[in-house]
Order: sequence, then C-alpha cells, then structure tokens
Amino acid sequence: MPTTESLVELAKGRHSIYKLGKESPVPDSKIEELVNQAILSVPSAFNTQSTRLVVLLHKEHEKLWDIAADSFKPLIESGTLPEETFKNQTQPKLQGFRNAVGTILFYEDPAHVKPFQEKFPTYKDQFVPWTEHTNAMHQYFLWIGLESLGFGANLQHYNPLIDSAVAKEWDVPTDWRLIAQLVFGKPEAGAQEKPKKPVEERVKIYGRL
Ligand SMILES: Cc1cc2nc3c(=O)[nH]c(=O)nc-3n(C[C@H](O)[C@H](O)[C@H](O)COP(=O)(O)O)c2cc1C
Repeated sequence: MPTTESLVELAKGRHSIYKLGKESPVPDSKIEELVNQAILSVPSAFNTQSTRLVVLLHKEHEKLWDIAADSFKPLIESGTLPEETFKNQTQPKLQGFRNAVGTILFYEDPAHVKPFQEKFPTYKDQFVPWTEHTNAMHQYFLWIGLESLGFGANLQHYNPLIDSAVAKEWDVPTDWRLIAQLVFGKPEAGAQEKPKKPVEERVKIYGRL
C-alpha cells in the first residue's frame, strides 16, 4: 500500500543535483520501466496523450551533450557569445551534464492537440498551455521517480538551440516540440538546500474543521 509519507519523502528529497557521475544504481531496464510508467500514468487535458519522451543513455547521452557544445559554435563565430564565456562557463557546465548516465528529452506532439482544438473551439486557446502542464507533470514524475531509483537529476533547457541537430541524430519528427531535458546520474555531491518562502504566504485554506 503506497503511503503519503513515502510520497512526501520523495518530494522533500528532490533537489537539483549538478555533480553527477556515470555509475548507475540500477540496470537500464529499471529506467525503461519508470519512463513507460510515466507515459502510461501521467494525465493530460482531454486525455490527448501528446507528450513524447526520448531517453538517451550512456554513449547516446554523451553524444547529446557533444551536440549541445557544437550548437554553440555558430554563436561564438558570430560574436554573439564571447569565446571566453563559452570556455569558462558554458563548456564546464555541459561537461558536467556529459559526466552523467542519461538524459530524458521531453517533447510535445502537436498532431495530437490540433484535432481537439477543432472539436472543442471554446477551449481552443487553452490546449497549448495544457500541453505545457502535462509535459511538466511528466518531468516531475520522472524527476522524483529517478530519485527513488537512487539517481540525482537536474532540469535543463537547451532548446531551441539543439532542436534540429537532435532531431536529425535521433530521427525525431521535426514538428515535435522540445520542452526540456532532464539529466540524471549518480549523485556525487549533496544538494544545496534552497531558501523557502513562508507557506502562509503561499497557501490559503478555507473551511478547515
Ligand atoms: C520549470 C522549471 C525550469 C527550470 N529550468 C532550469 C534550467 O534551465 N536550468 C537549471 O539548471 N535548472 C532549472 N530548473 C531548476 C530550478 O532552478 C530549481 O528546481 C529551483 O531553483 C529549486 O531548486 P531545487 O531543484 O534544488 O529544489 C528549473 C526548474 C523548473 C521547475
């Protein structure tokens, strides 16, 4: 029987972990099971099921972060990003992600949203924001799910910079919209506890008995 305590424990234990290593606490099959469970159990507005997940492990994961590094080259060449900034800031960060076990790419497939917009014109403008909501739910499920397997993780947004190279490398349909990247690996340093704003300012409860 699942308990509230174990859910709260996972929620409290979730942090952005940036120092990640390549040693995996579980076989890859456990990651696959978790990802499949996310796709099957996370809800979507009107049950559109528009979220798509691409999981890159080990060498394929490393390739992703090499692609990300390469994606910065035109920005450096055009002078948009100073080479020093890339070398001192961007590159070490990307190398940190590369040192991990895997990355989950979160996509939305618009083909599964358009028919609903046509069928329910009253909600037409809500469907795209709702895709962001369901996508974020998948992200959170997998963030704490990976934590439950013994991984640490952090959430990144190198889209749209990496979109076309990634689509080409892994044969991702070009109309899928890349939303986020969740990097995970062996946690090698404790999380930094961040300050929390007071609960009383952020929650209102009426009608409490
Ligand atoms: C919607 C969203 C977007 C985020 N984007 C990034 C990001 O692009 N890069 C990053 O390093 N962290 C990103 N984060 C992580 C947040 O900065 C982090 O969760 C927040 O500061 C709280 O810290 P914690 O995760 O350790 O609790 C994002 C988090 C959320 C929920």
